[in-house]
Amino acid sequence: MAKIRNQIRFRLNDQLIELDDITPALTLLDFLRLDQKLCGTKEGCAEGDCGACTVLVGRLSGGELVYESVNACIRFVGSLDACHVVTVEHLKSKDGKLHPVQQAMVDNHASQCGFCTPGFVMSLYGLWMTNPKPSNNDIETALQGNLCRCTGYEPIIHAAQSISKNGKVDDDPLILERQSVKRQLVELSDGARVEIHYSDELLIVPSSVEDLADARQNHPDSTIVAGSTDVGLWVTKMMRNISPAIFISHLEELHGINTKNDSINVGACVTYTEMQGLISSHLPQLKEYWNRIGGEQVRNMGTIGGNVANGSPIGDTPPILIALGATVTLRCGKKQRSVLLQEFFIDYGKQDREPGDFVESINIPLPAKGDVFAAYKVSKRRDEDISAVCSAFKLRISDGVVSDAIIAFGGMAGIPKRASDVEAELIGKPWNEENVSKAKASFDKDFTPLSDWRASAEYRALIAKNLLQRFFLESTDGNSVTRLNRDKAA
Ligand SMILES: Cc1cc2nc3c(=O)[nH]c(=O)nc-3n(C[C@H](O)[C@H](O)[C@H](O)COP(=O)(O)OP(=O)(O)OC[C@H]3O[C@@H](n4cnc5c(N)ncnc54)[C@H](O)[C@@H]3O)c2cc1C
Ligand code: FES
Ligand code: FES
Repeated sequence: MAKIRNQIRFRLNDQLIELDDITPALTLLDFLRLDQKLCGTKEGCAEGDCGACTVLVGRLSGGELVYESVNACIRFVGSLDACHVVTVEHLKSKDGKLHPVQQAMVDNHASQCGFCTPGFVMSLYGLWMTNPKPSNNDIETALQGNLCRCTGYEPIIHAAQSISKNGKVDDDPLILERQSVKRQLVELSDGARVEIHYSDELLIVPSSVEDLADARQNHPDSTIVAGSTDVGLWVTKMMRNISPAIFISHLEELHGINTKNDSINVGACVTYTEMQGLISSHLPQLKEYWNRIGGEQVRNMGTIGGNVANGSPIGDTPPILIALGATVTLRCGKKQRSVLLQEFFIDYGKQDREPGDFVESINIPLPAKGDVFAAYKVSKRRDEDISAVCSAFKLRISDGVVSDAIIAFGGMAGIPKRASDVEAELIGKPWNEENVSKAKASFDKDFTPLSDWRASAEYRALIAKNLLQRFFLESTDGNSVTRLNRDKAA
């Protein structure tokens, strides 16, 4: 049994915070504004959508100190042990000069009412620190999770392009203090389990995966909190009690990425951002799709394990993972079992889970030579929006004939599901316009979609057929116009 500590400890700007009396539901935003009176960080939506609450969180990853933009409104204080939280107040210099990012916002008239401004400043600060000369595409991607309703984005983009005119990254205080902060975070990572009892609530931060397995068996009714991009909203929008809560996003063992020739294995807590490199190198077909999951802050927090475990019928990764033949490894105590992902989703709200288990990792076979693979997302907004329909297609085509097909959809049923009738209709036939047209009719056998505020049943039924058509066009005719130029450039 690991040593137990009854305190969460983290660095906030240049101050050490030690808390022994907090509810697991305490958000970073409430802590900053209500407790610390750091009111530069704003509350807009309290659901991760607007970016007004953006702060940077620094954490140790593989021995390096990495800063990422996050939404303080849906990030829990319980997840911050041994982290460095940086708010907009930290940008204030002793001589009163504005930080290069802030100066660029002023020079480019990039603020009107100012409500969104601290969030934009923090997102741009995070970008500038790692990428002082960003391309327009880099800037747009970094700002996908920040909304401004009065200035308009053009001046903000101009500001982003001109930050380096006002100073060098090497002179930035966060870079200069990096070594000392790193030393402090190493000291704070003492290998202890954190356990805080608050009234009748319980908050646990396990010390290792072994310890997580133990804690989970003792509390099978617990809420696992990974990136909290779903669980955060249960608290801010539904006032749900998440106790006992087990925070797992800090567990380095769950952030592992192992690549083999024909597959990749990712730990449950690998975030969308951590997957980016792997997408570029091993699954380039998903580059555009990946950047349409959430905004930058959500991609920095949200995990693959969370996207699978939440059982959502409209999660963006399950159709891709099903099409690739992924398996999920579930762990209960010392026992591990692997389940084919398409069999993991049983019914709406029901997955193949056991009391006290958790998702440990996901194994993803890569497309083989001769496989044609693509994924598509349809949502009302291009950026920072949940899918109305998402889909993935993997076909093996030998001598012009479809020899194998896996087609999976989200948003078309109560679970992410394969289009088995469409697949059967395509297999064994030449991959041509005539057979694709015939196969489209089979979508009506595979799915009876519902209407909701994201899309009507009729729209969903039609879009599924159109996506098959799009996949056919893109796989056979490189010149066909199937997407906006902006997407092609991405
Ligand atoms: C603004 C915004 C935009 C979003 N955009 C998208 C989008 O474009 N596409 C999309 O698919 N999703 C989107 N989401 C939803 C969310 O970001 C994803 O589902 C994300 O992958 C959830 O992962 P997480 O680590 O944050 O999960 P958490 O919120 O921590 O947990 C989600 C659920 O999974 C459980 N869980 C988490 N990890 C494990 C584990 N290892 N073992 C067992 N159970 C576990 C939790 O108990 C909980 O039930 C968005 C959310 C927000 C707030
Ligand atoms: S307040 Fe809108 S994202 Fe946090
Ligand atoms: S300046 Fe008013 S919301 Fe952006």
